[in-house]
Amino acid sequence: MKKYNVGIIGATGMVGQRFLTLLAEHPWFQVRVLAASSRSAGKPYADAVGEKWAFSTPIPECYKNMTVLDAEKDIDKIANEVDFVFCAVNMDKAKIRALEERYAKREIPVVSNNSAHRFTPDVPMIIPEINAEHLEVISSQKARLGTKRGFIAVKSNCSLQSYVPLLHPLKSFGIKSAAVCTYQAISGAGKTFTTMPEILDNVIPYIGGEEEKSEKEPLKIWGEVKDGEILSATSPVITAQCLRVPVSDGHTAAVFVSFDKKPTKEEILSAWENFSGEPQKLGLPSAPKQFLRYFEEDNRPQAKLDRMEGNGMSVTVGRLREDLLFDYKFVGLSHNTLRGAAGGAVLLAELLAAKGYFD
Ligand SMILES: NC(=O)c1ccc[n+]([C@@H]2O[C@H](COP(=O)([O-])OP(=O)(O)OC[C@H]3O[C@@H](n4cnc5c(N)ncnc54)[C@H](OP(=O)(O)O)[C@@H]3O)[C@@H](O)[C@H]2O)c1
Repeated sequence: MKKYNVGIIGATGMVGQRFLTLLAEHPWFQVRVLAASSRSAGKPYADAVGEKWAFSTPIPECYKNMTVLDAEKDIDKIANEVDFVFCAVNMDKAKIRALEERYAKREIPVVSNNSAHRFTPDVPMIIPEINAEHLEVISSQKARLGTKRGFIAVKSNCSLQSYVPLLHPLKSFGIKSAAVCTYQAISGAGKTFTTMPEILDNVIPYIGGEEEKSEKEPLKIWGEVKDGEILSATSPVITAQCLRVPVSDGHTAAVFVSFDKKPTKEEILSAWENFSGEPQKLGLPSAPKQFLRYFEEDNRPQAKLDRMEGNGMSVTVGRLREDLLFDYKFVGLSHNTLRGAAGGAVLLAELLAAKGYFD
């Protein structure tokens, strides 16, 4: 595989920092450009990120002295340096939509963590193990944008990753409905315990926009491609409540599910155990060997113990049992800034590279 030159748009943010740590030694991608707002532009990366560096490990040496570019004003410069960009910025949605389209129209493919384009019908929203076939809408997106190689592909919201991958292998039993309660880490809000002290000894029962995303995005992921667009599925009904909890990393989901044809417990365990997707088939560098891992222990999965399973790219699950109202209930966990954000985007970029979308 040839090496691709990569830019990180939003490099100083929580997700941007994750990209940097993941890509420091990536076999296919090398980071050539770091970009952020005009507040950071012109500064060496270490100065621009300053106290916002969120990890206990230091900033990798290779980035410290790179000059941060302005994500909005320096697009032409960036276009000359990179084969594609990752984008994770904190801006108004309309501005993000416009910024990402500017990059795509400048013939720079954009792999995005932002929610702005998730419901643009010809923008694929991908969990690589689940709906890699949705990439085929990219050709009609390019036709709409008038581009040869520029396009936008997005990943879904972080909350979904702790239950959609677990529901997906059970679809053959006909999922009727699911109720989900998520317990979400503070890094999902771009925060640490230092920058979000109000979360200590606390649970906050509201995360703006999160419940709508958690209910709606799975239906696009399970949608079908028709006439160059993705038509969202109309079922199953998913209802969600999303809470912020005092955990640094790792979103937990308590899930209740009913089926048309109720499977046995053994059938569910076997469906999870044996499920894999395109990333495993293609041997992508960030693909976990075992995507879904079940714990027999009653007190697992735990965020602190299990979020790094499969280098933070596996989804763990436990406590599968029958329920009084629904057919079954279980508890899922995924790392929100790895599988749920930067890691999921890197895996998506690997899928795109393997399928020739960056050539
Ligand atoms: N954290 C998660 O787990 C997670 C998961 C999934 C998706 N996301 C999404 O990823 C995106 C970034 O999240 P985050 O948690 O990393 O946010 P963050 O820590 O607040 O970082 C935001 C980044 O955006 C940059 N930025 C702000 N205004 C800008 C502008 N006008 N032009 C260019 N860059 C600008 C900031 O640069 P400066 O430092 O120069 O201000 C910074 O690099 C958001 O859309 C979020 O919804 C986050």
